[in-house]
Amino acid sequence: MPHWAAAAWLRPNKQGILMTYAIIGFGKLGQALAKAFARSGIDVSVATTRDPESFAADAAAIGPTVIPTTLAQAIKADIIFLAVRYESHPEVAKALPTWQGKTIVDVTNAYGVLAEELKGRASAAVVARAFTGGKVVKGFNHLGAPVLGQDPAVHGGKRVVFLASDDDGAAAEIAALAEKLGFAPISLGALAKGGLLVQAREKGWGQLILKDLVKFD
Ligand SMILES: NC(=O)c1ccc[n+]([C@@H]2O[C@H](COP(=O)([O-])OP(=O)(O)OC[C@H]3O[C@@H](n4cnc5c(N)ncnc54)[C@H](OP(=O)(O)O)[C@@H]3O)[C@@H](O)[C@H]2O)c1
Repeated sequence: MPHWAAAAWLRPNKQGILMTYAIIGFGKLGQALAKAFARSGIDVSVATTRDPESFAADAAAIGPTVIPTTLAQAIKADIIFLAVRYESHPEVAKALPTWQGKTIVDVTNAYGVLAEELKGRASAAVVARAFTGGKVVKGFNHLGAPVLGQDPAVHGGKRVVFLASDDDGAAAEIAALAEKLGFAPISLGALAKGGLLVQAREKGWGQLILKDLVKFD
């Protein structure tokens, strides 16, 4: 096993519990997220539908803590960023019978998806239903990839990311990770409230989408 493969599964959180991270989808947004992990020196596995060899050079160009892997390996992580098209989420969800014990960060934007298809629910609530047993946090999706991929230390403050979840513990866990990645997390509460502020609405957007805010302490 290469040295980085071993290191990827050994990152303790504040409580000393070993936490592992993965990004599923290594396109524009997946790569922007990977840059944040690389900048912070945190190991993260990245996976697509393809053989990891095919995107190993892109991962290496971002940094040595970005580890190309298979989807089967990536889903072993504790915290998983879902950086695929919204339409692809059911396919990824099928990779495990239960996502119990895992936190899924839904960065998808269901742009163009009709309100009837969502049946009045937040798009992240639909994702949460697909990822049976998992805890879902909506977030890191309100900015374009070229902005999200930049160093979040700006103008003497920190770039804001919005988080919404029906699970307070998971929201706190991802807020702590966002801080480690250099962002200023702002909790928006439950998916049915906060989630709607940071999601696509058919061919429009929730009020906080593309609002590039900086927090000063
Ligand atoms: N781009 C942005 O500025 C931006 C901003 C905010 C939010 N978002 C959201 O982020 C998500 C990703 O957007 P993107 O622009 O990064 O898209 P993208 O460049 O098209 O990348 C999509 C990635 O998902 C992978 N993928 C697709 N189906 C998969 C599956 N079943 N299992 C594993 N990987 C799979 C693709 O891998 P293959 O190459 O193997 O198909 C590809 O790496 C979307 O939901 C989008 O709405 C994007």
